[in-house]
Amino acid sequence: MVKAVVLGAAGGIGQPLALLLKANPLVTELGLYDIVNTPGVAADLSHISTPAKVEGFLPPDDGLKKTLTGADIVVIPAGVPRKPGMTRDDLFKINAGIVKDLATGIAKTAPKAFVLVISNPVNSTVPIVAEVFKKHGVYDPKRIFGVTTLDVVRSSTFVAEILGNFSLSKEIVVPVVGGHSGVTIVPLLSQSSHPLPAGITTPDYEALVKRIQFGGDEVVKAKDGAGSATLSMAYAGAEFAAKILRALKGEKGIVAPSFVSLQADPSGAAALTKELGKELEFFSSNIEFGAEGIVKINPLGTLTDAEKALVKAAIPELATNIQTGINYVAEAY
Ligand code: NAI
Repeated sequence: MVKAVVLGAAGGIGQPLALLLKANPLVTELGLYDIVNTPGVAADLSHISTPAKVEGFLPPDDGLKKTLTGADIVVIPAGVPRKPGMTRDDLFKINAGIVKDLATGIAKTAPKAFVLVISNPVNSTVPIVAEVFKKHGVYDPKRIFGVTTLDVVRSSTFVAEILGNFSLSKEIVVPVVGGHSGVTIVPLLSQSSHPLPAGITTPDYEALVKRIQFGGDEVVKAKDGAGSATLSMAYAGAEFAAKILRALKGEKGIVAPSFVSLQADPSGAAALTKELGKELEFFSSNIEFGAEGIVKINPLGTLTDAEKALVKAAIPELATNIQTGINYVAEAY
């Protein structure tokens, strides 16, 4: 029996994500929570002929607590999305409060659940969840994940496009490390399962890196004020959740990048700190999962000079974003 929960389930990401989780046969219970519309979303999904029993709750009558009771995995896409001209960090003030309150609910009701944070800015909201859990004495760094999978999905798609073969996109795996905003997103294209064309020029390589780092802006611009990536994010979130669900079921050797605390794996912290040359509390790298959460954080491996420069450029912004999240919780208590 596995209970999955979506917090922010009536939103642009929340609804298609809830649909994809309902379609996952490993989920036997699906709890949906939002400040609006969850009874309708839950009723709609409950007619789909897959195993998960669906329930939707609103804030009154302890709705958050009811949703979270018995949760094994909690995905958080609650919050406001970006509008044109906004960066992910502009979202901070609103989303930080939402994530802090939801993390408090999880710490009280489902402290052992795996928490998958989608709400932006992920570089700061993941430290917020960690700090809230610390305040409640239930912090386990092995169970808190920042979802960076959309960067991975975009990398696969854009590399397939460059290779002129879209049917390869599902097979192409590019590790994306660092964080989840702008220059903190570092695609390790030299480690792609399908190498870039040998003759790729420096401007074409740089344009590809920039497109992966700022792919979200393409969507924000095209939606013209109606929000940011929702459908591709729901797909990416469901892909990541599916890996966690498989690990929960006992499957071994599952690996994917995620933005996590380096304390989750002390050996990973040592290796990464050596590679980064600076102590960072959180970083995204390839993570190996097990039924109890993070088993191993893989080092970055061999980087090209261009990739080393990208990692170096990511570190100062990442350090600031992490500290912003930590300070937010320190000031709130
Ligand atoms: P949306 O506005 O369509 O949906 C957000 C939902 O959260 C709404 O239904 C809203 O009612 C709900 N909500 C607000 N406050 C809440 C609270 N206190 N408790 C429960 N639910 C609450 O926004 P969208 O497009 O679904 O984006 C959601 C978040 O995901 C944003 O922060 C966005 O920046 C982020 N995002 C993250 C990505 C990633 O790669 N990690 C990619 C794209 C978006």
